[in-house]
Amino acid sequence: MGLLLIITVSIVAIILSYKLIQRLRFKLPPGPRPLPVVGNLYDVKPVRFRCYSEWAKVYGPIISVWFGSTLNVVVSNTELAKEVLKDRDQQLADRHRTRSAAKFSRDGQDLIWADYGPHYVKVRKVCTLELFTPKRLEGLRPIREDEVTAMVESIFKDCTNPESKNKTLQVRDYLGAVAFNNITRLVFGKRFMNSEGIIDEQGKEFKGIVANGTKIGASLAMAEHIPWLRWMFPLEEEAFAKHAARRDNLTRTIMEEHTAARKKSGGAKQHFVDALLTLQEKYDLSDDTVIGLLWDMITAGMDTTAIAAEWAMAELIKNPRVQQKAQEELDRVVGFERVMSETDFSSLPYLQSVTKEAFRMHPPTPLMLPHKANANVKIGGYDIPKGSNVHVNVWAVANDPAVWKDPEVFRPERFLEEDVDMKGHDYRLLPFGAGRRVCPGAQLGINLVTSMLGHLLHHFVWTPPEGVKAEEIDMAENPGLVAYMRTPVQAVATPRLPSDLYKRVAVDI
Ligand code: HEM
Repeated sequence: MGLLLIITVSIVAIILSYKLIQRLRFKLPPGPRPLPVVGNLYDVKPVRFRCYSEWAKVYGPIISVWFGSTLNVVVSNTELAKEVLKDRDQQLADRHRTRSAAKFSRDGQDLIWADYGPHYVKVRKVCTLELFTPKRLEGLRPIREDEVTAMVESIFKDCTNPESKNKTLQVRDYLGAVAFNNITRLVFGKRFMNSEGIIDEQGKEFKGIVANGTKIGASLAMAEHIPWLRWMFPLEEEAFAKHAARRDNLTRTIMEEHTAARKKSGGAKQHFVDALLTLQEKYDLSDDTVIGLLWDMITAGMDTTAIAAEWAMAELIKNPRVQQKAQEELDRVVGFERVMSETDFSSLPYLQSVTKEAFRMHPPTPLMLPHKANANVKIGGYDIPKGSNVHVNVWAVANDPAVWKDPEVFRPERFLEEDVDMKGHDYRLLPFGAGRRVCPGAQLGINLVTSMLGHLLHHFVWTPPEGVKAEEIDMAENPGLVAYMRTPVQAVATPRLPSDLYKRVAVDI
């Protein structure tokens, strides 16, 4: 026992002295004073990007935040964002894997959690050349349009139902269903939900796996940051193993179903399971990588689109002037005899600006995904030691009054006055990141969000629930890596087109 104590104390002392030497050797960015052992863990407020933004006002646009013994560097202006994502991109392109992320990705055998190296380059190439090509994006358009028109049909049913006493709708429920069905069809080639909104057994299992992943992923927060304390928080090995087995079982069953269907029909479909299975040999992809990639797309592409659309709707309900202007454009371009299609986008610049303004004010991942330094680098004149995590506060950058006029005002016109790219070429607006790790699903996400908004605005007038004033809508965020609205937005929808235009346009591809 005595020997164990001496060994433990010595290890702790060595680690602490190493950290101290590191802090003295490097000129680290300023920041709130860290406490021994826990660092700033207890200073960080739950909605982190807002807390970091406040600290940036005190300490400057590059700050150090210690989670236990791990250094997190947060940058909050456009110049530093460019340094991180362009000038020092390659040295900052690794990922910090929490223990749960390491388990789920089999130590980075996927894309999201892979470090920058030969495996990453190969898998990224599969994304660029095969999965996210303009041709496939177009090939999958009927699925998106099916889901968006299904949403319109379901809202119409609910808001015109004479039996429903309270006609207030929770907008998130409808957007969430589009995001769910779109991603499961895109990734797994499956619509788990029937036309009545009932989810089948496989779909329930899928939802259970997603919910369980979130639960066990979040349960380790404290032990994650203080590695030498981990022995006090034994990893729930069994829970992880069970979760991984459940996920693999479901995915393998779906993969086998598609392999059998391909043998029967002789052709592959557009969705990602068929694409990856037919490319497995060409790119030498292991089964773990195929499963990892499929789940990456689910994790990264489902909530983010629903979140972006919900924030946009909240802004449109708060700003009837903008809502009306977008509706006038839709009436002019699309008219009253047909529904909107993605092919109309190029004639709908105001609608596109509404989407962009929503991404500016409410980026769904306000701190992007953290990058990790694979070498010692200098950013903004400060040292960033190898192994540090680097975050770009893309919310702070896109809401910086030094760069944006009246950033707190929802004014899509700003993008008609100046065309600003949001897919990683303009460092003032980075909802999808930039550089070699930029979101590969950006165009897909933009199309789906714009399509949802276009249909919602063309088909309905949106107002706050009776008795609620626009300024009373709660615009605060929930804590977390993705920024859901703290209070789901409620609204009343009033149809504005002929009733025969509220039918789902179902497709089976
Ligand atoms: C509105 C929707 C979306 C937003 C705001 C968003 C945002 C982001 C951001 C900020 C990153 C991190 C970039 C970085 O680390 O520098 C990312 C990565 C990623 N996103 Fe998206 N995304 C969205 C939709 C999608 C969709 C629809 C998919 C796929 C179906 C997708 C797949 C991915 C993947 C696989 C990565 C990891 C890329 C890598 O590590 O190399 N995303 N996304």
